Amino acid sequence: MKKKFGIKAENSNSDNQTTNSVDMAIQWYPGHMTKTKRMLVTQMGLVDVVVELLDARVPLSSRNPDIDTLAKDKKRVLVLNKADLANPDTTARWEEYFQNLGFFALAVNAKENDKKKSGTNHLTAILQNVMKEKSKQQQKRGRINVPTRAMIVGIPNVGKSTFINQLAGRASTATADRPGVTRGRQWIKVDNQFDLLDTPGVLWPKFEDKIVGLKLACTGAISDNVVDKITLAGHLISMLMEIDSGALVKRYGVEGGALEDIGAARGFKMKGGVVDIERAAIMVLDEFRGGKLGRISLEMPE
Ligand code: G4P
Repeated sequence: MKKKFGIKAENSNSDNQTTNSVDMAIQWYPGHMTKTKRMLVTQMGLVDVVVELLDARVPLSSRNPDIDTLAKDKKRVLVLNKADLANPDTTARWEEYFQNLGFFALAVNAKENDKKKSGTNHLTAILQNVMKEKSKQQQKRGRINVPTRAMIVGIPNVGKSTFINQLAGRASTATADRPGVTRGRQWIKVDNQFDLLDTPGVLWPKFEDKIVGLKLACTGAISDNVVDKITLAGHLISMLMEIDSGALVKRYGVEGGALEDIGAARGFKMKGGVVDIERAAIMVLDEFRGGKLGRISLEMPE
């Protein structure tokens, strides 16, 4: 069952692809949110370490605003997932940025089948490091090989299930919500080193920030079904023009980033020869999300 939330464009204007004042509000139904929070608190009570997944392309926007409070008593690891879609230099800077803030941080591509290439293999070493102190105390008390317990948390679509599958070394997971199926919690043993809760903790994104909503919609983290695609693509193009305008020129062979020019270059013509800019908008969004425009980060550390 996909999580019930999306974004609503209140003042979207389909005629103006570079509208800056689009007013978007992220909607998360209050009942759903209360239940989510309650489940999260219960799950966190079971673990030593909380592994928080962020989208490497938008690490700040994909962070949950309340996680520092919710996980304040836990050891924390930050994972920059979807690193295969982000600019590698920027991701390295983000790793450093979070490390300077005192977090353990690592970049991964949870979709990569080869665990070594994906970067997830480093998590085991990091968790050993994180839990060093606790292990020492346990050894003093004569308790050896007490497994570290960890859980994955993150906003929807950040790659939690994919990451769990990657760690568990399997193709499909029982972690997805399955309506009507009740079962006990399960722990997955990873590399014989730590136990991972098979159910990820779902976090909510920052509701109040419109730019955050836009970036999350651009990356596909939140549904864009109710958002005007032309407006959204216009915002994405504006960001790309600032960050890496060469990517658009390289992919579509047009300068300036106008959707009409991009559509024309691709031959998206409607009756009467008018360019189908909606089709062009959908294509640009899809191609950005799929990495076809290159590895582009939408946020850089200060
Ligand atoms: P969630 O549990 O946090 O909600 O996220 P989930 O694992 O379902 O992943 C959401 C989407 O992100 C999936 O794509 C998944 O394949 C993709 N994804 C996860 N991790 C990575 C990564 O490191 N790199 C890339 N490139 N993609 C990643 P989808 O289009 O919804 O499904 P599908 O393409 O797998 O069929």
